[in-house]
Amino acid sequence: MSTAERFFAKCPNQRSESSRHFALSEKSAAKHKSARSMCIISGFLKSERLMATSMVATKYIVGNWKLHGSTQENAVRLAALKAGCRHGDALAVCVPFPYLAQAQQALQGSAIGWGAQNVSEQAKGAFTGEVSAAMLADFGCSCAIVGHSERRALYGEDDATVARKAQAVAEAGMTPIVCVGETLAERKCGEMVQVVTRQLAAVLAHVSAETKQRLVIAYEPVWAIGTGLAASEDDVREVHALLRGQLEKAGVTGTRLLYGGSVKASNAGALLNTANVDGALVGGASLDAEEFLKIAQAARA
Ligand code: PGA
Repeated sequence: MSTAERFFAKCPNQRSESSRHFALSEKSAAKHKSARSMCIISGFLKSERLMATSMVATKYIVGNWKLHGSTQENAVRLAALKAGCRHGDALAVCVPFPYLAQAQQALQGSAIGWGAQNVSEQAKGAFTGEVSAAMLADFGCSCAIVGHSERRALYGEDDATVARKAQAVAEAGMTPIVCVGETLAERKCGEMVQVVTRQLAAVLAHVSAETKQRLVIAYEPVWAIGTGLAASEDDVREVHALLRGQLEKAGVTGTRLLYGGSVKASNAGALLNTANVDGALVGGASLDAEEFLKIAQAARA
């Protein structure tokens, strides 16, 4: 079982009672952090044995390749990631659908997980061009991104669709990585809190209690995506505290909160050390294996 598979594990039923209790007993960012220093409280721990051996806090680092790659390019990148990844890292790459089999073949048996960038909310049927969550699971995916701002803005995905997709991913035994984040215009209008809260609330209102425990939330301010200009640590701290509070109010504790938006090796250390940041969703920088591995290294520090 690879580390990433442990984190993005497949079956909620396999989660140990004590890890569940551990996660549920958390109440604040401080407690959250100290709990992680004792064991990994991903919420997807599979056994007591893993709890005992996982003594260090580990951040999730997830690559979002977007619409990039070719079999040739991918082969080089995947081999470099596999070679450079260290025991204890929790890495995953979300690749374009056609390359899932390639990622599976290249990464199987490694500590790196793989997943998709989107999924259909439908299980099967006459939905031309769609890919179901079960199909992703069939290719060994451990996670899928849902509600990325590019999907919301360019493909008209609304909050309700995102919520249905998150549920579909979890029902197929994978981890839904749900993206939330405000546009620059919304931030300038003072609507950041309202937007991010609404996006998360829609998911929490729709998904099952079991799915809630499996969610990973990625805060990705739209204005920071692909711009080279990451959010400041203060901005990230503020929004992540907001998300943590909203989740806890809904009775959901131990949720991994990722930050995404122009994460690179040079800013990863500071961002990953910000309160309530449990990992990063990395776009552009994930296309460069060396850069991605440096981010993984920053996550270890
Ligand atoms: P970026 O993208 O790292 O290139 O800003 C992040 C994302 O869109 O997930």
